[in-house]
Amino acid sequence: MSHNERAKVEADPNRVIVFDTTLRDGEQSPGCSMNLEEKLSVAIQLEAMGVDVIEAGFPIASTGDFEAVREVARTVKSATVAGLSRASRKDIDRAWEALQHAASPRIHTFISTSPLHMKFKLQMEPEDVVQAIADSVGHARNLCDNVEWSPEDATRTEPDFLCRVVETAIRAGAGTINIADTVGYTIPSEFADLIRMLCERVPNIDQAILSVHCHNDLGLAVANSLAAVHAGARQVECTVNGIGERAGNCAMEEVVMALRTRQDAMPYSTGVDTTQITKASRLVSGITGFSVQPNKAIVGANAFAHESGIHQDGMLKNAQTYEIMTPDSVGLTKSNLVMGKHSGRHAFKTKLKELGIELSDNQLMDAFGRFKDLADHKKDVYDEDILALVDDAVMRHNDRVQFVSLGVRCGSHGPQTAELELKVDGQPQRATAQGNGPVDALFTAIRSIVPHAATLQLYQVHAVTGGTDAQAQVTVRLEEDGKTVNGQGADYDTLVASARAYVNALNKLMVKRERTAPGEMERGGTSAPAAE
Ligand code: KIV
Ligand code: ZN
Repeated sequence: MSHNERAKVEADPNRVIVFDTTLRDGEQSPGCSMNLEEKLSVAIQLEAMGVDVIEAGFPIASTGDFEAVREVARTVKSATVAGLSRASRKDIDRAWEALQHAASPRIHTFISTSPLHMKFKLQMEPEDVVQAIADSVGHARNLCDNVEWSPEDATRTEPDFLCRVVETAIRAGAGTINIADTVGYTIPSEFADLIRMLCERVPNIDQAILSVHCHNDLGLAVANSLAAVHAGARQVECTVNGIGERAGNCAMEEVVMALRTRQDAMPYSTGVDTTQITKASRLVSGITGFSVQPNKAIVGANAFAHESGIHQDGMLKNAQTYEIMTPDSVGLTKSNLVMGKHSGRHAFKTKLKELGIELSDNQLMDAFGRFKDLADHKKDVYDEDILALVDDAVMRHNDRVQFVSLGVRCGSHGPQTAELELKVDGQPQRATAQGNGPVDALFTAIRSIVPHAATLQLYQVHAVTGGTDAQAQVTVRLEEDGKTVNGQGADYDTLVASARAYVNALNKLMVKRERTAPGEMERGGTSAPAAE
């Protein structure tokens, strides 16, 4: 077991370890994929906010995943870095290869234990699964002294068998046992009973920290996680904005703020600096292209907005009338400073700081260039404008395909034509194409420079602010061989934003294409690298 996490829980029995899996389970969401630079920036933010364990990826899934886990492991110093592996030596060795240089590494290995999964997915007998657990955890433990083991689909596993496999994993050296509600099936009272049962019936349970990993298929992931903490779990697995497979995972910001706000009913603590929550949420939504619904708890645009007169009146008299948490406590600061074309680099830097954005010198140079260009075309530049352009300008340095310029002829006198220049692997490439409208012409031009078979699933335009000079934020979703990616682009010119969004999606597709099946597991596993 990691001395870090063990020590934290021993020092304070009510301390809850926050295990963030945005970079692994979150990144498995349909449409989501992050490149190395993006993963690193999320990991740095998670470390800064005090997350205890960062699950950086699934090293055997692809070279890209492996490299991302390795870089996160090398970069992060104060959090434990975990890598996922199935119950095979090859997976575990690859995970260790990626993790070994971490200040505090953890191998997370898993296998399914429900009758349904063992029979149909693994095609293994229960006895063989028990043996696989002993072998895989033992092997992982020989490499790393911090091993987490998860019974996948634990909530549909027979209770006696669950007790037996948990005992086996602890005996083999697992220091954290992670009870996965893989399909989001359980309900709070039942899940709490399950955790209590494990505490009562597994003889060596005191040698491990009990963790929970809840999916949100019934909208209960946070409630189930909190019920489990109440029943004895001391690690919660979660993702920023609740992203993840299907309906997502337990949302970190919700579980952390629930524990903080309701100390009276749930006297548990985490190490998370909650004032970093808004920054983390914006970073993840900007990178993934998954916008946060306005009424989402804690981080939605309306989470602290008061529209009705009665509420506004109450708020003016005493904010506690309608607010159970302050906006400041989640890092939501209001600012009246509107930027414009006379704002200089210093004011821009101050504004970024206020918005919780830290950039390297090169990133700042790019972002400031984009800001100046925007300010030349838009009288008032608001916080939302800056957030949109920073997302767009900063994370794209290492992309293989880069937008350079676009000229468009459109209107009622056709033919609508796009003249496009991109850089592909650093080489300028130009194309001119006609289409049924300017967007069609533009996307045809992109396809002629970067031929691909992906189909366009979604093309969506939002105005970032009000006014006819508002920036457009465009989302493009592409699908190829069952893999989907979301790209985003922002610009005061809707067609330039469209080109940026399409190019962003193409770059993400290239990252995703790398994820080929790593081959069959040694012991009857699935060939698919993804776990839910
Ligand atoms: O949902 C799940 O079962 C998982 C495991 C790998 C923990 O993500
Ligand atoms: Zn999961």
